Amino acid sequence: MNRFVVVSAAVFLLISVAYLPLLNDLYWSSLKSLIPPVRVVADLVVRNGTIFTSDDTSFPFSDSMAIRNGRILKVGNFSTLKDFVGDGTMELNLEGKVVVPGLIDSHVHLISGGLQMAQVGLRGVRQKDEFCKMVKDAVQKAKEGSWILGGGWNNDFWGGELPSASWIDEISPRNPLWLTRMDGHMALANSLTLRIAGVTSLTEDPVGGTIMRMPSGEPTGLLIDAAMELVTPYVQEVSVDERREALLRATKYALSRGVTTVIDLGRYYPGTTDELSWKDFQDVYLWADSSKKMMIRTCLFFPITTWSRLLDLKLQKGPVLSEWLYLGGVKAFIDGSLGSNSALFYKEYLDTPNNYGLEVMDPEKLSNLTMAADKSGLQVAIHAIGDKANDMILDMYESVAAANGDRDRRLRIEHAQHLAPGSADRFGQLHVVASVQPDHMLDDADTAPTKLGFGRAEKESYLFQSLLNGKALVAFGSDWPVADINPLNSIRTAVKRIPPKWNHAWIPSECISFTDALTAHTISAARAAFLDYHLGSLSPGKLADFVVLSTNSWDDFSEDCSASVLATYVGGMQMYP
Ligand SMILES: *[C@@H]1O[C@H](CO)[C@@H](O)[C@H](O)[C@H]1NC(C)=O
Ligand SMILES: *[C@@H]1O[C@H](CO)[C@@H](O)[C@H](O)[C@H]1NC(C)=O
Ligand SMILES: *[C@@H]1O[C@H](CO)[C@@H](O)[C@H](O)[C@H]1NC(C)=O
Repeated sequence: MNRFVVVSAAVFLLISVAYLPLLNDLYWSSLKSLIPPVRVVADLVVRNGTIFTSDDTSFPFSDSMAIRNGRILKVGNFSTLKDFVGDGTMELNLEGKVVVPGLIDSHVHLISGGLQMAQVGLRGVRQKDEFCKMVKDAVQKAKEGSWILGGGWNNDFWGGELPSASWIDEISPRNPLWLTRMDGHMALANSLTLRIAGVTSLTEDPVGGTIMRMPSGEPTGLLIDAAMELVTPYVQEVSVDERREALLRATKYALSRGVTTVIDLGRYYPGTTDELSWKDFQDVYLWADSSKKMMIRTCLFFPITTWSRLLDLKLQKGPVLSEWLYLGGVKAFIDGSLGSNSALFYKEYLDTPNNYGLEVMDPEKLSNLTMAADKSGLQVAIHAIGDKANDMILDMYESVAAANGDRDRRLRIEHAQHLAPGSADRFGQLHVVASVQPDHMLDDADTAPTKLGFGRAEKESYLFQSLLNGKALVAFGSDWPVADINPLNSIRTAVKRIPPKWNHAWIPSECISFTDALTAHTISAARAAFLDYHLGSLSPGKLADFVVLSTNSWDDFSEDCSASVLATYVGGMQMYP
């Protein structure tokens, strides 16, 4: 090749490179003048409100928001959104109303909740007579021989006496009864049910469970924690259709409370089989998703014993099955509940001497399962209520992280209800999520001191501010159907901590700010389930889930935490009313 050609080619190249930015500009500006700009037109513009975004990287408030294809285009003052308004843009004028991001409930048992709505509802029953009357009414309506299921009772409401089969045997000679306590850790069987399940004075207490007995050794009908498994295999199977209806019923109810996303921890009795969560997934959730019946977003957790099955599914399908259905992690239990005196404590219960609570699973087995599930990359959530149970899980999580190496794992403790001195700080230090349920304190405030002693109850219970001080990620939930699903109430409870019939806060130093409480039901709840890429705040690119409230004043709302849900939008579509 000729030297001249090589040199001039090199010079040309150099000049071109030097002028590339300029050429580029010229090129683009000439092109732009030829093609009209592509305009992004919003499907919906929400305006003239007080929109709280829960987005800590931008303005917390704005007055308008533009939405397209179910996602947020932009949040800002109306003047900055005008460009998105075009043919076909719908407008929602909020007339000053307050809007918050769709509320996320970090811990529910959605199908159990929906089923319970159709069963004997004993929540709030205040007397033995009323209890018996409701059961009697249900028996009269039921077919002879069919199972009668119900739940929600709380013996603390009538002074503490535990119900027994003798309360209900006469009114239910031919129908087996199975009535769970509101916390799901205890259930009452009538004598017919005990007979069907073969539970007698000779039956030994299973590991992790207690059969309540009369002095003669005869069972009273009450079965605690793992002892419930003696009966659950015999309880009439709920049909697929009933479970599907339960999901739809539960969904509608949740939407009416402003809930747009739930983390579903599966069926709520420790006694239910691990297989049931998978059956619900296949028969109910996949059915609802494929037949376009999902109306709230659901992230599912599965029993820890089935972790490899979940792993296979996630490897095959990824964590996002659809805009509605997300695969979360695995769930386990270490202890029971305070109400059933089965939460695990360092010191004995004052009202049942020598009782420290129960380990409902062998800790070594649980640790092995957690180690394996975590190593595979799955998120782990473990139920721990008593102070000792919480420390056991914190220790276990610490060794799991040390063994499996640094990772953004967001290990969760569900409930984290009673924490020994210093333990609240460990959540932040170890990056363990505190998945807590403020409304449970309304049930526990009167009884915790009688069970734990006043000093211990005051130092250890529902330490939300301490957890936040320790920089823990705190996510709120209801544990529905254990408590009602009602995030606005749970926010109020966390801020005020005033139990029914009290006129002052329970442990005032643990009251948290309104913004912190709202954060715990929105962006923190999303982070706690690895959903924050899609959900949790009103930010560009995220799903357009939001709730219109009945108030026009942010100041009033944040002051007395009282407002009701006027409308719930999921993906920019009005789902309630
Ligand atoms: C909206 O406008 C108000 C005052 O007109 C201003 O204070 C606020 O910062 C603006 N918000 C955004 C998101 O630009
Ligand atoms: C915004 O809402 C207020 C009520 O708070 C109403 O008076 C006003 O007319 C509305 N503005 C627009 C532009 O719709
Ligand atoms: C837990 O794992 C260890 C080490 O693999 C094993 O030796 C032990 O038997 C396991 N324990 C249980 C209860 O599975």
